[in-house]
Amino acid sequence: MADTRTATLTIDGTTYELPIRSPTAGPDVIDITKLYAQTGVFTHDPGFTSTSSCDSSITFIDGDKGELLHRGYPIDQLAMKSHFLEVCYLLLYGELPDAATLEEFEFTITHHTMIHEQMHNFFRGFRRDAHPMATMVGVVGAMSAFYHDSTDITDPRQREIASHRLIAKLPTIAAMAYKYSIGQPFVYPRNDIDYAANFLRMCFAVPAEEYKVDPILSRAMDRIFTLHADHEQNASTSTVRLAASSGANPFACIAAGIACLWGPAHGGANQACLEMLREIGSPNRIPEFIERAKDKDDPFRLMGFGHRVYKNFDPRAKVMKESADEVLDLLGVDNNPTLQVAKELERVALEDPYFVEKKLYPNVDFYSGIILDAIGFPTSMFTPIFAVARTVGWVSQWKEMIADPALKIGRPRQLYTGETLRDYVEIEDR
Ligand code: CMC
Repeated sequence: MADTRTATLTIDGTTYELPIRSPTAGPDVIDITKLYAQTGVFTHDPGFTSTSSCDSSITFIDGDKGELLHRGYPIDQLAMKSHFLEVCYLLLYGELPDAATLEEFEFTITHHTMIHEQMHNFFRGFRRDAHPMATMVGVVGAMSAFYHDSTDITDPRQREIASHRLIAKLPTIAAMAYKYSIGQPFVYPRNDIDYAANFLRMCFAVPAEEYKVDPILSRAMDRIFTLHADHEQNASTSTVRLAASSGANPFACIAAGIACLWGPAHGGANQACLEMLREIGSPNRIPEFIERAKDKDDPFRLMGFGHRVYKNFDPRAKVMKESADEVLDLLGVDNNPTLQVAKELERVALEDPYFVEKKLYPNVDFYSGIILDAIGFPTSMFTPIFAVARTVGWVSQWKEMIADPALKIGRPRQLYTGETLRDYVEIEDR
């Protein structure tokens, strides 16, 4: 049944009725698409804290309940019972696959993992000590120069091929960016091992000896990928959507998403968090850092704490914490000092009135760095790993958006605060 409710807005004595739309879950929205045409005013919402930018049926978050659903399925069930490629299928196509469909999808992704051999030369143009994220932004953008046969966004089959290529090749590109940064030869993907194991092998194998992937580590890696797969309209996803709204090709759009993810308030937080835990060094220095985080004159923030949407707990952090315990236990990393600091910091912050009142809880990045560190990744690889995982989210949202007949170029308005009209002044008269 069509929603007939409206919200009433009065401006200078004139009243306007704005349609209200109800989602399948979450708060109602006031549809303001015709507001400017009808009233001559804009809304103003920097940071988009009260603005929905699109219709989407992929991911739902209830920040108060600490709930994250992909196509209706809770993230903890997916993290525990499913695996990354199955979640990729779910995000891309909307339903869990049956066994034959999953096998076919895994085959397709596995058989797209190699990158064009000429792209190897492209890597060699970067400074050897380049951050792997810098290399990834460049190389993923450059995919549009190598895969012309999947850049026509008006063709649904080309869109699908681009989606598969991006999900398949991102681990290869991230691993190559890492190998390049440490001066080791690139390791080609293999078709006889799974997605997470392949990524570990491409990062840690060397041609001089056999490398056997530890199934415990590949399971932990797969869970990290699963927990980061999508998160509705976050900053990098909105960046991908905005870039794509102009009709740009998918590889360029995902490169834009990677650039946005890099920042420490978003995907860069996992690197920043582990560096912070190491800087704290021992539990007795925690009060000093807590005080700094609370000091309005100090820009320092507790990395891995707080979230724009989650105001109760981050359901991904819960699973990640269990995973961290499991991995460290299985690796026999007893008394890991970083983990000790993390656990104590979490305990202290959760009891501190500042963090309680502002509803600041550990987010997904608080524990992921500890696992990645235990696996053997340097901090510079933490955000690239987030990018590998989030690619399926970006691609699913991009596919959804391009197929939407209501697609419009994204073009926010502004509240102008600059000079009004004035005449040019000749240089000798200034
Ligand atoms: N440490 C100390 N104070 C904090 C923190 C923190 N980590 N996070 C927020 N606050 C305070 C902030 O100073 C503000 O205080 P006041 O109201 O007195 O000015 C209040 O809490 C609200 O903060 P905000 O910046 O307005 O909130 P936001 O929704 O814009 O920011 C955030 C969300 C994630 C950017 C922020 O919490 C933050 O910078 N956290 C640390 C970085 C981090 O861990 N990011 C990873 C997010 S999860 C992974 C991802 O999605 O990429």
